[in-house]
Amino acid sequence: MSEAPALLRACQVTKHYPGTLALDSVDFEVRGGEVHVLIGENGAGKSTLVKLLAGVEQPTQGYLEFNGRAIRLESTRDAAVAGIGMIYQELSLFPNLSVVENIFMACERTRGGVIDRKAEEQIARGLMKRLEQDIDVHTLVGDLPLGCQQIVEICRALARNVRVLLMDEPTSALSPSEIEVLFRVIRELKATGVGIVYISHKLEELMEIGDRVTVLRDGRLVESAAIADVDVGWIIDRMSGRRWAPPAEHAECAGQAEVLRVEHVHVPGRVHDVSLTLCAGELVGVYGLMGAGRTELFEVLAGSRAAAGGRILLGGSRMEHLSVRERIAQGLALVPEDRQAAGLIPTFSLGRNMTLASLEAHARHGLLSRAEEDASASRLIAQLRIKTTGPAQPITSLSGGNQQKAVISKYLLTKPRVLLMDEPSRGVDVGARAEIFEIARRLASEGVAILFASSDLHEVLSLADRVLVMARGRLSASFARSELSEQNLMAAACAKAESLHVNAQ
Ligand SMILES: Nc1ncnc2c1ncn2[C@@H]1O[C@H](COP(=O)(O)OP(=O)(O)OP(=O)(O)O)[C@@H](O)[C@H]1O
Ligand SMILES: [Mg+2]
Repeated sequence: MSEAPALLRACQVTKHYPGTLALDSVDFEVRGGEVHVLIGENGAGKSTLVKLLAGVEQPTQGYLEFNGRAIRLESTRDAAVAGIGMIYQELSLFPNLSVVENIFMACERTRGGVIDRKAEEQIARGLMKRLEQDIDVHTLVGDLPLGCQQIVEICRALARNVRVLLMDEPTSALSPSEIEVLFRVIRELKATGVGIVYISHKLEELMEIGDRVTVLRDGRLVESAAIADVDVGWIIDRMSGRRWAPPAEHAECAGQAEVLRVEHVHVPGRVHDVSLTLCAGELVGVYGLMGAGRTELFEVLAGSRAAAGGRILLGGSRMEHLSVRERIAQGLALVPEDRQAAGLIPTFSLGRNMTLASLEAHARHGLLSRAEEDASASRLIAQLRIKTTGPAQPITSLSGGNQQKAVISKYLLTKPRVLLMDEPSRGVDVGARAEIFEIARRLASEGVAILFASSDLHEVLSLADRVLVMARGRLSASFARSELSEQNLMAAACAKAESLHVNAQ
């Protein structure tokens, strides 16, 4: 590994937020030509540290050095000028602008003083090719699925010819094949001397792509080491003060009564003739690659997307004509994939966001009881170990993973009979992931039926009673627990169109 001098260095940086010491005297550096991995539990301070390195936030104390000289980054523009680029954890794109406009936002290519759209389009298409994507550069970003938006975000950083690239959970919405492509690009960048800071909760990923690792806990640096000298156990031990318990082992489903029946649901171009049933107490996984139609199917079931046809029955009652709210009241709730857009109200506190979907349950004699609300919120904050100063903390000031836990809490409080969860562990640390699935398992043992979408093979394999696989908008396979294997799932997820048609009943 290169022993090059540090390209970018944070020296004894401290960051105070109201009520929180997010970083406490941290030293951190990235050299040219290396991938320096940053890991820690939700709320450990990872995003805060890279925000300081990107000029998004300023340290309360301490300073930065670039190429051995002290540097002040008052803004992201200062950072861009120095050659520091960032891929954000929460996507920072403009949904009503096109792909190419987003890529060149604030770094427009000009010719004779005017924006050279032709040149920009050409570069954008070149970047898509490099990333092996066929996204039309004129599409509005808001019309793209989350995974494609993440690709655009990556293109945006690549278009800037950076010397340091900060990546905050860049793969959280990418499929395995896209992650491979991203890793290839990262290796290319490394070879040209770019220094990369890489944040992810996916430990196997870190072991594969990282050269060095630094573990943060509660805003402090725990230890840095060469990846070659450590293993996953080493990392997990340093991440949390407490011992990590692996996710609860699979428990057999009691084979109870059917609660959800879906018949021939159809969304033009997205979901084709999907039928399935769910029994009380079942924990069923839906596996598929990005764009397979899982999110769209879940949205149709929850009522946030219209279907062109099909029937949805909850406990025998038709749901198709009910609104999202009405379905929640009947006991059918969806934890959405995109917590920013669909899950949370940014101007509300943590507590109010958590109780938003279950206000009726927190009313006494028709009046909302703040005490009840706070009690529910506090209970789930403890259960899911949400890192916060309390229910009154503004939701946007929680770390990304803790916001995800808040979204999940919000729907747990609706006391669902059927709970749909779209990528529930996206962005949450390994400990919290285990906690979320423990709660799911407990709900299932109380008779709740749970359908969760996941692109994580291991998650699906270790947790589900049964797995449905989607490919190109259709159900391509259904596997009982005893039939599950990595090969089966992958093969079904990549199935060709002509071989697709399964009714999972
Ligand atoms: N704007 C803010 N105001 C108040 N507190 C904040 C703000 N931004 C972050 N924090 C707090 O700082 C701490 C560190 O947050 P940070 O986002 O850096 O965590 P993280 O390690 O990136 O976690 P995750 O894995 O969940 O993304 C958290 O306790 C968070 O609540
Ligand atoms: Mg973060």
